[in-house]
Amino acid sequence: MSTEAVKEVERKVRDHFDDDAERFDSIYKTKKGIFARFVDDYWRGVVQKRLEVNVEKLEPLTGKSVLDVGCGSGRFCFEFAKHGATHILGVDFAPAMINIANGLAKEMGVDKECEFRVGAFPEVVTGETFDYSTANGFFDYIENPVSIISAMREMTKEKMILSFPKAFEWRVPVRRLRFWMKGTPLFLYTKKQTENILQKAGVENYEWINLDRDYLIVAHLK
Ligand SMILES: C[S@@+](CC[C@H](N)C(=O)[O-])C[C@H]1O[C@@H](n2cnc3c(N)ncnc32)[C@H](O)[C@@H]1O
Repeated sequence: MSTEAVKEVERKVRDHFDDDAERFDSIYKTKKGIFARFVDDYWRGVVQKRLEVNVEKLEPLTGKSVLDVGCGSGRFCFEFAKHGATHILGVDFAPAMINIANGLAKEMGVDKECEFRVGAFPEVVTGETFDYSTANGFFDYIENPVSIISAMREMTKEKMILSFPKAFEWRVPVRRLRFWMKGTPLFLYTKKQTENILQKAGVENYEWINLDRDYLIVAHLK
């Protein structure tokens, strides 16, 4: 794919999440109507499950630094801070997502621990290293995961958590249709494709978790 075509994919994804930021963050809210609760639990239940498994797999977080790539409204970053992480950098190229993240960090009293940056990964992070890095619900929108994962690996000392949406799963046809109608690119992965991507990115030692509509990879780097 040409550089222009990649930039076009990025622009479409960024605009999608800039418009969709409030609705996306509402998945994490506990106060909502019966219909919204049903859809979020049944259709998008993986979003909350990913958060729980990330914390479980990264514990102990006390004193750790974490990079969260495609952090969205910052929900993972807040949870890492609440579990003792002392520096969390959340990166997202949708400004509306970062606005929500900054507001919520203040509300929750974790704004000292959590720093948020607007920009495309990896360009927006240079010369920094972290104990852990995470990218959840992110590779769904990435044309070239290998270069992104390689960059994350370079910046990470201990563990990386990466989610990949399954290509074959009962919700896929409707999900594909929804994104196609909105004109937003969507990338889905088979088990084999995910294994190849990890191998090309130099990730060798990892746990493979079948989590609802995702494969969740917990990579051990030392
Ligand atoms: C589905 S949201 C997931 C947010 C968060 N990780 C979560 O699970 O709550 C995906 C996010 O990735 C961001 N994103 C996609 N590609 C990106 C890129 N190349 N650089 C930075 N952010 C990106 C989007 O703007 C969006 O907010």
